[in-house]
Amino acid sequence: MVSKDSPKHIAIIMDGNGRWAKERGLPRRKGHEAGADSVHAAIETCFKLEVSYLTLYAFSWENWSRPKAEIESLMILLEKYLTKKTPELVEKNVRLKAIGRLSHLPKRCQEALKNGIEKTKHNTGLTLVLALSYGGREEMVDVARTLAEKAVKGEIKPEEINSDLIQASLYDPELPDPDLLIRTSGEMRLSNFLLWQISYSEMVITKTLWPDFREDQFKEAVEEYFRRHRRFGKV
Ligand code: FPP
Repeated sequence: MVSKDSPKHIAIIMDGNGRWAKERGLPRRKGHEAGADSVHAAIETCFKLEVSYLTLYAFSWENWSRPKAEIESLMILLEKYLTKKTPELVEKNVRLKAIGRLSHLPKRCQEALKNGIEKTKHNTGLTLVLALSYGGREEMVDVARTLAEKAVKGEIKPEEINSDLIQASLYDPELPDPDLLIRTSGEMRLSNFLLWQISYSEMVITKTLWPDFREDQFKEAVEEYFRRHRRFGKV
């Protein structure tokens, strides 16, 4: 199913771990663990589809309001995942990146993340971007602060601020806009994800809960994308 029009950048709102666990009478933590297996499946599917960028919403700015125990279990899972998977990412030529207010993450997580990013920085295959402690509005606030500081220092004039300058001030300016945004678990909302970058992304919302979203479901979402006719505001 690889085609010249394969989406270059796919972004995913991984939702439904809690419901998946509840349906099975398991603690929410187990849903997140099963969700981590779907992360692995998503990466493998991107290899097959020759996707260049995969951005995963792994922990939102709003997720900091969850119960302390759930935040802790997610952070431990993330740290373990990064520590265990970094050698595999190196071997499979994946370049790891992260966006968000990363300084809010626990130190051990920051270290594991830094190590993964450093070890994979010269890789040339899939770029895997983890959105962590990430909020689209918070990113815009951080962009505004960066530009305001530059204006105060006299490095830019307010009238010079345009789309290009905003793009250049994002957490990772190099990332192309997502072609396809997938949300699992059937919810019809954006939940503060990549608000600037998804202006013209195609959206596919599937009822499948994230832990059940594996290769077949991923390929179905991409098939749906192939059926779309992208016009970017033109006729
Ligand atoms: C949303 O499900 C999911 C999250 C808040 C966390 C996403 C984390 C993972 C998929 C696992 C770890 C990630 C990596 C990169 C190793 P939810 O808890 O909101 O589900 P619910 O809406 O059914 O309650």
